[in-house]
Amino acid sequence: MASNILVTDVSGIPSAGPLRRLPTKFALPLVGDSFAFLKDPAGFLATRAHELGPAFQINVFGHRTACFWGPEAFHFFLDERYFTRASASPAHVQKILDAKAVPFLDGARFKRRKALLMQAFTPDALDAYLGVLERVLTRYARRWANLGTFAWVPEMTAFGMTVATSLFLGTNPDEDDPLLARAFMTAFEGFLSVPINLPFTKYGRALQARDALRERIEHAIDEHEASTSTDALARLIDARLPNGDKLSREEIRIETFHFVGAYLAVIGALSSLAMFLGRRPDVKERLRQEIVDTLGTGPVTLRGLAGLEYLGRVTRESRRAEPVLPMTFFANVKEPCAYGGMRIPAGIKAIGCIGATLQDERTFADPRSFDPDRWLPERATDRQHAAWVPHGGGGPFTHHRCAGERLADLMLSLFSVVMLRDYDWSFPRQDFSPTAAALFATPRAGLQVQLQRRTSDRSPRV
Ligand code: HEM
Repeated sequence: MASNILVTDVSGIPSAGPLRRLPTKFALPLVGDSFAFLKDPAGFLATRAHELGPAFQINVFGHRTACFWGPEAFHFFLDERYFTRASASPAHVQKILDAKAVPFLDGARFKRRKALLMQAFTPDALDAYLGVLERVLTRYARRWANLGTFAWVPEMTAFGMTVATSLFLGTNPDEDDPLLARAFMTAFEGFLSVPINLPFTKYGRALQARDALRERIEHAIDEHEASTSTDALARLIDARLPNGDKLSREEIRIETFHFVGAYLAVIGALSSLAMFLGRRPDVKERLRQEIVDTLGTGPVTLRGLAGLEYLGRVTRESRRAEPVLPMTFFANVKEPCAYGGMRIPAGIKAIGCIGATLQDERTFADPRSFDPDRWLPERATDRQHAAWVPHGGGGPFTHHRCAGERLADLMLSLFSVVMLRDYDWSFPRQDFSPTAAALFATPRAGLQVQLQRRTSDRSPRV
């Protein structure tokens, strides 16, 4: 039924007549769209987006949820006059991450926490992490060349989790801890579960893993307080605001848990990047040439990486062409508003659809194709830049944009430099489409690869 209540339509899209309801599709009573969503969140949202347009409604986890996609609608969803993240995500997601974690905060509490957290991602901090990243990657790259033919996704997972636990828990970068890595994966897999807490359910196992990891993190904090480490956990402990305020021990424990788990997204992004490079020899050779011409065999530095323009376009485009995450965390609609002539009632939930925005054909010509040069300054439109939301939108200090974006940039760049200078790879025929029922997408067949060393070992010195 149409409604005529007085609300602001800030979309700028002219609409004649009374406000309409958000379009939606029939869903079963009680369960709504939850099972279809849990089975394949990216596919489900992409299909609904295509069918229903830039603002539509689904019903998940017992809540009506407005979904926004495309640069205009996505940015509307970031408007904190109408949307709040405070305690808005599904209860089971808040339970796994902790209801006091930064994605579920708003207002002054959010800004304080984010300003402290971002101190673990300054250029100075990233520079200090480069040594650990390079050390783990060099070890893994040698291992991969020895294996020759293997499935890259499980290897990438082991590699990424060792980087994460070294940076955020201070584990030895020369050793892997598969049980620790598995525990983080089990905990985060609980996001996409039916929230029934029994010992044998996905959700129950996620909570058990979370509890064991909380203890492990407490132990790491104890160790760090007695050491002079400069890793990411040490930076969280040392982080201060101008007024001297700092993170409490509980806040450090909560956010460290999220930081390590967030590395699963990096693994997705690395897998897609490796996939695109292996499938597009023209891009791979052009990028290799840029790396060799610009960096030679010299050490990898942040400044050196910043000078690699094509590399910047390649890593940007790989995150667009194969979205790692389909959506943002949830918000609550706090004020009735309107978008494009559609009424958005207060009290319902809302999400920003990342996948649909990155693959919007009104913004990106031939959106499924991997075309790094679409980001050339003379080709990239403002609309394109506004639609590049793999890490969320807005700014990292002012909005819920990903805290680890710069670290992810660094991982993707370092991976390209080390792997292209000294190694080469190709793929046998296989299914490259993304996994469906996973929080972070990776190539479905595990990315079977043939990999070898190119020349003598010229691994970069840091
Ligand atoms: C390619 C890798 C990554 C991708 C694609 C990614 C993507 C995202 C997305 C989509 C969000 C949610 C934005 C929203 O709700 O509006 C997010 C939030 C967040 N990410 Fe990442 N992320 C990545 C890596 C990382 C890493 C490595 C870390 C930390 C080590 C990290 C830490 C966070 C944190 C703390 C938040 C919550 C920020 C907030 O609520 O203010 N992410 N990320």
